[in-house]
Amino acid sequence: MGKLHGHVLLLLPVFCLFSSTIVLSVSGNNNQQFNQGKNYEGSSDLVKLDYHMGPVLVSSIKLYTIWYGHWNPTQQSIIRDFLLSLSSSSPFPSVADWWQTVSLYTDQTGANITGNIILSGEYYDSYSHGASLSRLMIQSIIKTAATSRPWPLPLNPYDGLYLVLTSSDVQVQDFCRAVCGFHYFTFPAIVGVTVPYAWVGYSGTQCPGMCAYPFAWPENSGTYQGPNNIMGAPNGDVGADGMISVIAHELAEVSSDPLVNAWYAGNDPTSPTEIADLCVGLYGSGGGGGYPGQVYKDSRGKGFNVNGVNGRRFLVQWVWNPVSMRCFGPNAVVD
Ligand SMILES: *[C@@H]1O[C@H](CO)[C@@H](O)[C@H](O)[C@H]1NC(C)=O
Repeated sequence: MGKLHGHVLLLLPVFCLFSSTIVLSVSGNNNQQFNQGKNYEGSSDLVKLDYHMGPVLVSSIKLYTIWYGHWNPTQQSIIRDFLLSLSSSSPFPSVADWWQTVSLYTDQTGANITGNIILSGEYYDSYSHGASLSRLMIQSIIKTAATSRPWPLPLNPYDGLYLVLTSSDVQVQDFCRAVCGFHYFTFPAIVGVTVPYAWVGYSGTQCPGMCAYPFAWPENSGTYQGPNNIMGAPNGDVGADGMISVIAHELAEVSSDPLVNAWYAGNDPTSPTEIADLCVGLYGSGGGGGYPGQVYKDSRGKGFNVNGVNGRRFLVQWVWNPVSMRCFGPNAVVD
């Protein structure tokens, strides 16, 4: 879960229990909302990220994707290529290189988070629970996928990780108001077993300025200059490219804090600040204060910071490096 910050009192965190992404408060007319990244790019003694003794995902992760709603195959292929890139070798700096920072986290046995993420199943759900979902209904969607006939999605309590992605027309509780995605674990009462999962919504139409930054500027910031004014989306789709950074954020956090009792900062487990929350809005060296940091631009001016499979490029936010005690990504400028 992230912290809302800046001067906007009405957006104080009001929900608990779910570990969430809160990206960029969108009210106000200055850039205070971006300062979180700036605060932590340099090594900081102020950040006290603690290990709370719980498990992290050390076994090869079997990733199961649930596409909820109506999905455009082009967008699906962008997202699928990103997921495939997590464990594939691509030219440096790659998505897999980015994941190496996540693999620096260990459990109390000293085992590292795995670098092996295997796409193990996909399920298409055509609005089984409608187009307006509560947070708990995400768990029901996993249950539906796992019990459908004739081809259920495997329910894998050993090394399964479930990623629920909702399409542009689907409303999810708190989506575009407080969160762009969240992660948690399923309750036996709903799903039958406890498995970690993450949900991310397609924000391209509902709130690109909030959840697809920096491809769209926060609409209510007073400095809004139209979409795409900061940088072009690497795969030409503001919504899907914006989702990818949120997916990366949630996968990093669910792997390091799957039961919300492992790696987080702050004393309150109902609103933990996790390893990606510390680096929201930061994509390259020097970032912060509304500036994403030094990233690459292709010949058409589209921004990216990592390479993936099939010649793809992606822009993913940095995560907290527990060794160097700073936000880090493989595109960091070494000086
Ligand atoms: C495992 O984590 C430790 C501690 O952060 C780190 O020094 C080591 O390089 C990591 N190993 C791998 C394979 O990532």
